Amino acid sequence: MCGIVGYIGSRDATPIIMEGLQRLEYRGYDSAGIAVLENNELQIRRDIGKLSNLRERVAADPVHGQIGIGHTRWATHGAPAERNAHPHISMSGDFVVVHNGIVENYLELRAELIAEGVTFKSDTDTEVIVHLVEHYSVDGRDLTEATQEAACHLQGAHAIVVLSKRSPDELVIVRIGNAGGIALGIGENENFIASDIPAILEHTRTMVFLESHQIATVRADGFEVQTLDGQPVTPVLHNIPWDPVSAVKGEYKHFMQKEIFEQGRSITDTIRGRVDFEHQRVELPELNLSAEQARRLQRLVIVACGTSYYSGLVGKFFIEHMAELHVEVDYGSEYRYRDPIIDANTAVLAITQSGETVDTLAAMEEARAKNALVWSIVNAVGSQAMRVADGHITMNAGPEIGVASTKAFTSSIVDQYLLALYLGQLRGTLTPEQHHQYVHDISRLPNLVGKTLECEPQVEQLAGHLYHFRDFLYLGRGINYPIALEGALKLKEISYIHAEGYPAGEMKHGPIALIDEQMPVLAIALKDSLYEKMVSQIEQAKARGGIVIALATEGDTLIATKADYVLYLPETPPLLSPVVAVLPLQMLAYHIAVRRGADVDQPRNLAKSVTVE
Ligand code: AGP
Repeated sequence: MCGIVGYIGSRDATPIIMEGLQRLEYRGYDSAGIAVLENNELQIRRDIGKLSNLRERVAADPVHGQIGIGHTRWATHGAPAERNAHPHISMSGDFVVVHNGIVENYLELRAELIAEGVTFKSDTDTEVIVHLVEHYSVDGRDLTEATQEAACHLQGAHAIVVLSKRSPDELVIVRIGNAGGIALGIGENENFIASDIPAILEHTRTMVFLESHQIATVRADGFEVQTLDGQPVTPVLHNIPWDPVSAVKGEYKHFMQKEIFEQGRSITDTIRGRVDFEHQRVELPELNLSAEQARRLQRLVIVACGTSYYSGLVGKFFIEHMAELHVEVDYGSEYRYRDPIIDANTAVLAITQSGETVDTLAAMEEARAKNALVWSIVNAVGSQAMRVADGHITMNAGPEIGVASTKAFTSSIVDQYLLALYLGQLRGTLTPEQHHQYVHDISRLPNLVGKTLECEPQVEQLAGHLYHFRDFLYLGRGINYPIALEGALKLKEISYIHAEGYPAGEMKHGPIALIDEQMPVLAIALKDSLYEKMVSQIEQAKARGGIVIALATEGDTLIATKADYVLYLPETPPLLSPVVAVLPLQMLAYHIAVRRGADVDQPRNLAKSVTVE
């Protein structure tokens, strides 16, 4: 998980940046680098592997200066290699950039820059940014203006820091979407920058968190923030409390809220290193699966509990669709009690955030005893579910503290999307065009997630209208039916309100009897092949006096005439729509729970890891 640290002031930047990077080490990385302006020359030191390698390199070839940036990289585009480590430098050597996120249109931008004579030194998407900044540093544009212009050409979600020898007294930072945050730490005649505040907490507790589409110009003695279209912004100063738990929560009130907002970044981390965007390949080496084994498979059984089970219900759509492999999804807690039929051509996939859920582990044991191929998707590295499996895929979502699972849910869905693509690749079930499309779609996901999270103010307002109801019905169809289940589970867990998730088409077979003005109905009615059917369910609910809240696709004006409240989501490739649709439901559960004064992070009777039957 990439980390960014920056410094400008009167002290030596190198040790401050190196220590900051060390504090971000726990997030994982495969290479690291720093750039410091020394005697008006940009000095770069980079190395692969552990930070100790970079430290040795800096010790052997020291660099000192009062302004600098550093980065720990976890590869998305281009293998872990020194040439791919950040910071990246421009052709003239005048600009350096560090970056978190994915430049979705980097192939087009790279082709345009190459046509203009730019030579690329790395395989990364990031390198286009530094060349673009240099490209726009003409016609009297200062560093902020050039960075602003460059940023406007990038698709995707980003946190970027730019340093230039042409502007030796300032750093420029940009945030677009939700590729993880970027914070500015305010000191006395010195300022700090970090993607994660623990990196700079020992220097300052006063922070400004950049919002999406904002750019800041940071000097030692001050800073200005504006929007990317040039509107001045009055920054909000946050005082981060001293106790370590609150410090880690940073700008958020609860871990759950923080984890909801981390999803642009956690999904990037899930994709990272597994997709070769240039050659359109997915690689999952830790699955330990040969092409021959993949072709022989006739059935996949997914076992999981709770939220992870709902994730498996979404994964079924991907795997059946892309890999033409029959998928069953079963509760970990039920599987071993029904003497399941397993043969040598069956693989069993356990999905578990904690990797220690006893029911899921027991299901894996059952599968192992019957000689199935056993895989796991886990978030907790080194957990039992990872150790006992024949192969695994990690979620890379980072520690999930809130008992209600949020970011692990979306990361495990993304893992299954990658698994489906990988199986499709090995089994030869995808045309090159389909493969290309699915790879392209996944590169857009972090940005779509970031955009969706921007609807939090509307969700918070909606929570104000709904928090006093005692029962809710969540309806979805097709690939978004599991999202109705998950939305209802989130509400139950943290607000203690009764909620049921239902496949919308089943409503007339019973639950419709429940609907009246005391039963809000949340309908996931995105513009997909089942849209008309969802609209008709909404009409039926309205006809019975129900209050309808619709999740709809941006630009859908019809829905506003049918539902009482509408939350709009950006248009998303249908297979990936569950990842986007679940976000407002997580936020709604969160804000309703907050309104009701519930203990959001530690709901009553629940444990993060359920290690008893
Ligand atoms: C999710 O919000 C719940 N706390 C719970 O359903 C959880 O998903 C379930 O206990 C499974 O946990 P696992 O993913 O760690 O196996």
